[in-house]
Amino acid sequence: MPVIRFVREGRDVECYPGENLREVALREGIELYGWKGKLGNCGGCGQCITCFVELPESTSPLAMTGRTAVEDQKLRGRPQNWRLACQALVQESLLVLTRPQAGMANKDAAMATALAQPLGAGPTEWPTPPAAEEPDGEEPDGAVADGEESDQTATSGEGS
Ligand code: FES
Repeated sequence: MPVIRFVREGRDVECYPGENLREVALREGIELYGWKGKLGNCGGCGQCITCFVELPESTSPLAMTGRTAVEDQKLRGRPQNWRLACQALVQESLLVLTRPQAGMANKDAAMATALAQPLGAGPTEWPTPPAAEEPDGEEPDGAVADGEESDQTATSGEGS
């Protein structure tokens, strides 16, 4: 039941368990990229190193999937609590600071305030897609509509 609290933007966003953080942010209109990433980013391949996010030190290790090999390589020299949004799948509710490289004047206070507020409950599983409608007269799974005999039924009485 993940809810992502985007601290810089002051927004709570629901997502489904296992959703990619970058994709959720883009879907919700959250700006992930600084000027370099806006000029050009890799589209989520883990190559441009522009989709940084910072997690509070207290974030549960279960909140996101672990650092990928790409992140281990690309985030060398960066703080341990930074991630590449495109490499992270959200598993539990958490706080995220986008564009940590840009700084934030009241960051510590904003993080403390955000941490003090409980996170709401989000969805627990992916929604079930609606069942596809069958063309007129046809029933799903070979079932026969009322009043009609299937070929099998029609021929089963022959010869007896
Ligand atoms: S979008 Fe390029 S590294 Fe994440």
